[in-house]
Amino acid sequence: LTRQDLAGERVLVTAGPTLEEIDPVRFISNHSSGKMGYSIARAARRRGAEVVLVAGPTCLDDPWGIETVHVCSAAEMRDAVMERVAASTVIVKAAAVADYRPKSRATGKIKKSADALVLELEKNPDILAEVGRMKGDRVLVGFAAETNDLVENARKKLTGKNLDLVVANDIGQAGAGFNVDTNIAKLLHRDGRVEELPLMGKDEMATIILDRAAGLRKQGMRG
Ligand code: PMT
Repeated sequence: LTRQDLAGERVLVTAGPTLEEIDPVRFISNHSSGKMGYSIARAARRRGAEVVLVAGPTCLDDPWGIETVHVCSAAEMRDAVMERVAASTVIVKAAAVADYRPKSRATGKIKKSADALVLELEKNPDILAEVGRMKGDRVLVGFAAETNDLVENARKKLTGKNLDLVVANDIGQAGAGFNVDTNIAKLLHRDGRVEELPLMGKDEMATIILDRAAGLRKQGMRG
């Protein structure tokens, strides 16, 4: 039987991309498949946690025994997450949230006419930063997907968004990041430590991320 070291914990996981509609036919999104977040949600459930998964559009089946909340846009993901923060003890934000959305959604299909079309975008809410401001004694794990200056950019997220841990994916490497079954990551801790995780399956990486989150919860409860 799997170690029930997360029994009593209420784990909130986000996964997948968000989808920002341009008109009834088109949208802006990204390559996230949801695999990383779903692996974390399943692993947390196996270890005894009560799990809620807030998922953007993916092709994956709802995991057994997990309340799965389906959302489309970043705004919807924000609302679904914020409703559930208070009840959570561990929050893992593996979703790839669109930073921008079209400023307005056309009600009818945009017709082809001029040679160039300018799409005006506006900023989406930063869900993770908002959760960070009300963190309390919750353990908060963020992700970072970067093509350049991985550690430096991930560290900015760790401190700027008040996180306990950042899983930094070097998406420039084969076998890491979006839409594959494996990942390569660096774990950035608050005390400055950087743990390098080699190429491994996302299920295996989920186990390591949850090991660290469980450790932080125990530390928090002691201190
Ligand atoms: O889904 P897979 O195909 O398995 O791929 C996994 C993954 C690469 C998507 C995942 O492991 C990952 O890295 N997710 C975060 C990708 C990302 O959007 O990174 P970011 O650097 O833009 O965002 C940093 C963090 O802030 C993330 O935890 C993100 O959930 C959060 N965020 C970002 C923007 C925003 N408006 N709100 C947020 O909460």
